[in-house]
Amino acid sequence: MSRRIVVTGAGRGIGLGITKKLIEAGNQVWGTARNPEGAAELRDAGAAGVLQLDIGDDASIAAFGPALAAQTDTIDTLINNAGMTSVDLGVDRRAQGPLQTSKPVVMRQIEVNAVGPMLVTQQVRPLLANGSAPVVLNVSSQLGSMVIGAKMPFDVGYNSSKSVMNMITVMSATADPEVTHVAIHPGWVQSDMGGPGAALSVNDSAAGIVSVLAGLTKADSGRFLTWQGNDHPW
Ligand SMILES: NC(=O)c1ccc[n+]([C@@H]2O[C@H](COP(=O)([O-])OP(=O)(O)OC[C@H]3O[C@@H](n4cnc5c(N)ncnc54)[C@H](OP(=O)(O)O)[C@@H]3O)[C@@H](O)[C@H]2O)c1
Repeated sequence: MSRRIVVTGAGRGIGLGITKKLIEAGNQVWGTARNPEGAAELRDAGAAGVLQLDIGDDASIAAFGPALAAQTDTIDTLINNAGMTSVDLGVDRRAQGPLQTSKPVVMRQIEVNAVGPMLVTQQVRPLLANGSAPVVLNVSSQLGSMVIGAKMPFDVGYNSSKSVMNMITVMSATADPEVTHVAIHPGWVQSDMGGPGAALSVNDSAAGIVSVLAGLTKADSGRFLTWQGNDHPW
């Protein structure tokens, strides 16, 4: 069945991979990019719309809801995929542990990776109310897990931002029972963020995420899953 889907950060990386697979499967997908003019691959993939969105900018988030609503009154699935690391702030990711990092590096990642997606969900929520079996899929990370964070204490801002995203996911699942809210770890992926040495291709991660998405039901709300559909430890 064709679904109406929004993917944030759809111009490259995992977001572009997910978007291509969803379009190939016959879904209608609106993709977002910070610079829509530069998102030629997203447009060429057949996106229903390419919308401007910077999840670290309140004005951009506030403008996004009305811009999307001008194109459709219904969304079935929102995929909060866009995200950043401390590398995007010009610092060495491996040297951002709790004994070295600074307040702006930590706060900006929480703002962009956790609060931004929450505000995007608020903007899209009226359109999800018209959707069929509506879903919010938050692309989190294994690094948001307490279990993994204890083993990989290199970037406290990034890890914490994904822990906050996970908390927002479980709270949303309880606060908003009409919508299925799920967090997913996409694997360690060969994108700009994951680097060429990562374990998984964008294609394999995206295929896994799309397959997990297709099988979600309301009973899954509040879960933290892997791209293979297994429960991830909190
Ligand atoms: N790659 C991995 O190994 C891995 C592992 C675990 C979790 N993740 C998560 O997976 C998601 C996708 O990551 P990726 O690997 O595809 O990373 P990527 O290749 O670096 O792409 C990042 C995407 O996020 C967008 N983005 C970054 N900052 C943004 C902002 N302020 N506002 C709007 N969009 C913004 C980028 O858009 P622009 O093109 O406009 O810059 C781009 O589309 C992220 O949430 C990431 O944390 C990735």
